[in-house]
Amino acid sequence: MKIGDSELDVYGLNLGGNVFGWTADEQQSFAVLDAYAAAGGNFIDTADSYFHRAPGNSGGESETIIGNWLAKRGGRRDDVVIATKVGSWPARPGVSAKNIREAADDSLRRLQTDHIDLYYAHRDVADVPLEETLGAFDELVRAGKVRYIGASNYTAERLAEALSISDREGLARYVALQPHYNLVERAYETDVLPLVQREGLSTLPYFALAKGFLTGKYRSRETDSGSPRNEGAIAYLDHRGERVLEVLDDISAAHKTSLASVALAWLASRPTVAAPIASARNAEQLADLLASVELTLTDAEIASLDEASS
Ligand SMILES: NC(=O)c1ccc[n+]([C@@H]2O[C@H](COP(=O)([O-])OP(=O)(O)OC[C@H]3O[C@@H](n4cnc5c(N)ncnc54)[C@H](OP(=O)(O)O)[C@@H]3O)[C@@H](O)[C@H]2O)c1
Repeated sequence: MKIGDSELDVYGLNLGGNVFGWTADEQQSFAVLDAYAAAGGNFIDTADSYFHRAPGNSGGESETIIGNWLAKRGGRRDDVVIATKVGSWPARPGVSAKNIREAADDSLRRLQTDHIDLYYAHRDVADVPLEETLGAFDELVRAGKVRYIGASNYTAERLAEALSISDREGLARYVALQPHYNLVERAYETDVLPLVQREGLSTLPYFALAKGFLTGKYRSRETDSGSPRNEGAIAYLDHRGERVLEVLDDISAAHKTSLASVALAWLASRPTVAAPIASARNAEQLADLLASVELTLTDAEIASLDEASS
């Protein structure tokens, strides 16, 4: 699947990297990355900030692990598409030109590579005018340090503004949007999708499994999965969440697959979505995510998920 009008050709599952150095140590992360690549996966999502909020971490851990993994593969690089982000890490805050320049060099060092395939503004910090941010991204593209740029957590209004500045000033243009979007978070469809579609961008939705809720492992408010995501995932266990799980149960049984696979296949089927972003802390979890790439849902199944989740 191509991202926007770029030359980035990516696998149907974007592997989420915030677990690397958080719920998966380096060895477990390597196992996930190896299994993902062995299945044909080529698209890894990370950020300079991952995962500074985990106890004992300060940020940069995920990129460092991915860099060590790339080095372990003998430096083979061109068969992997690496996406990372700038702007959300308290140690490198914001999207000023100075911060972007410095953060990019730091990310390249941690990733042990000479280029980032897709570099995102992590969120719309608005600490400086968009012209400055886009100018700094454009410099990185011209220098060959970054191939393409993307926006994460932008509103339609600000994304439209950024795209028109790029067009007017002849600067690098966002090719992708990374929004919060899944079966139980669908605001994207009304807020930003029409613009993304009109402008020819691709969407890479994050929290594609709603922090694990859509795997079906949270069925009661008393569930203790032992995961730091427990609380965030259980929050989706309301009437609508239960309805969604019921439909996921039926469809996954019909296809003899997991709820996670069905939830990701639904997301992958939506207009503008190039690949859902989801993470796994081990190869067993990853197997369910990978299965989604081969899974095609019927129109009736998609319609019943639409109804249950609306
Ligand atoms: N742009 C942004 O602002 C932003 C924000 C958040 C995330 N992201 C990106 O999106 C990616 C995905 O988000 P996420 O990782 O936070 O959440 P997610 O993909 O919605 O949920 C993944 C979590 O669900 C659990 N899980 C996965 N497969 C499972 C299975 N087969 N069985 C049972 N449990 C399973 C695992 O957590 P446990 O084992 O702990 O239960 C896993 O880490 C991130 O890694 C990151 O790259 C971007």
